[in-house]
Amino acid sequence: MSSQDNIYYCHPIFRPPSEANSLLIQLTEGCTYKCSFCVSNLRKNFKIRAFNDVKKDLEIARKIYRGEIKRIFFLDGNAMVTPFQELIKILDYANKIFPYLERCSVYAHSKDILKKTSSQLEELSTLGLKMLYVGFETGNNELLESINKQTTKDDYIKTTQKLFKAHITLSATFINGLGGSGNQELSKNHAIESADLVNKICPNDDRKWYIAFLSLMIPSGTEISKRKKAGKFIEMTPKEILDELKLFIQNINFKNPNANCIFRANHASNYLPIKGILEKDKEIILKTIEFGLSHKNNLRPDYYRRL
Ligand SMILES: C[S@@+](CC[C@H](N)C(=O)[O-])C[C@H]1O[C@@H](n2cnc3c(N)ncnc32)[C@H](O)[C@@H]1O
Ligand code: SF4
Repeated sequence: MSSQDNIYYCHPIFRPPSEANSLLIQLTEGCTYKCSFCVSNLRKNFKIRAFNDVKKDLEIARKIYRGEIKRIFFLDGNAMVTPFQELIKILDYANKIFPYLERCSVYAHSKDILKKTSSQLEELSTLGLKMLYVGFETGNNELLESINKQTTKDDYIKTTQKLFKAHITLSATFINGLGGSGNQELSKNHAIESADLVNKICPNDDRKWYIAFLSLMIPSGTEISKRKKAGKFIEMTPKEILDELKLFIQNINFKNPNANCIFRANHASNYLPIKGILEKDKEIILKTIEFGLSHKNNLRPDYYRRL
């Protein structure tokens, strides 16, 4: 195979931990949003790649993996911004050349999900777009505004309803530590309103859905790092982060006893790896957090934390 036969990537690339075994295909580059903590919009000019270029990469992958691909994750930070017709063409082609394809997934900003109609989402789901990774970050509108997320708690409720209706699985991420140290009121609101949002979106059946908590990292070049340098943002301590997560878990109260919400806070940015099913494992999760709070030597050191 010649060097022309390499799959194209625009580095650096990010993918969810659960897509470690998926074929990664660059569909977009960069991001159209500018969230204050995120590196996805830095150092890359935003573009949606031409269909023929994406098609070529899929064909290279077919040569390498002989059509045995089961999962594809389409990069980049917000591939859901791709117009509906383009997405249809790409999913269609991927299904054609990978007969064992089970699931395609993308990172998706809530607003770009809302821009697609319910019937468009259903069509995408039928063609295999089965999992969307959506950055909620918080259910608190004040904090959403301060991180420039360009969404509201209400947008997230509408987004989730649309996804569930289209049988697309939601994987939503939240970030602990977003409000910074020394603002207990904001941290409390972040935890309680995030839990309220999760309670409100809980479906009344036993389908699987995913909630993940990361802990804030401050990559250089981001708005939040500029605020930190200027002394306007102070990072939370591990104790403040765990207290915030504890308050979130304490406020989870699902009406549905069969809820199957897979909860994870085991990303490399977290001080303590935690996972369980909500709200069945609520007490175990709270005990794990208590353990972390009283055994600081067992927490992941800052130099091992990463995105
Ligand atoms: C690459 S983004 C894609 C999400 C999607 N574009 C959206 O905004 O809904 C994936 C997620 O990683 C998390 N993330 C990104 N930068 C982070 C940081 N500096 N610290 C902690 N979590 C971060 C956020 O939860 C973010 O939504
Ligand atoms: S969090 Fe998502 S929407 Fe915001 S800049 Fe990063 S990739 Fe874009």
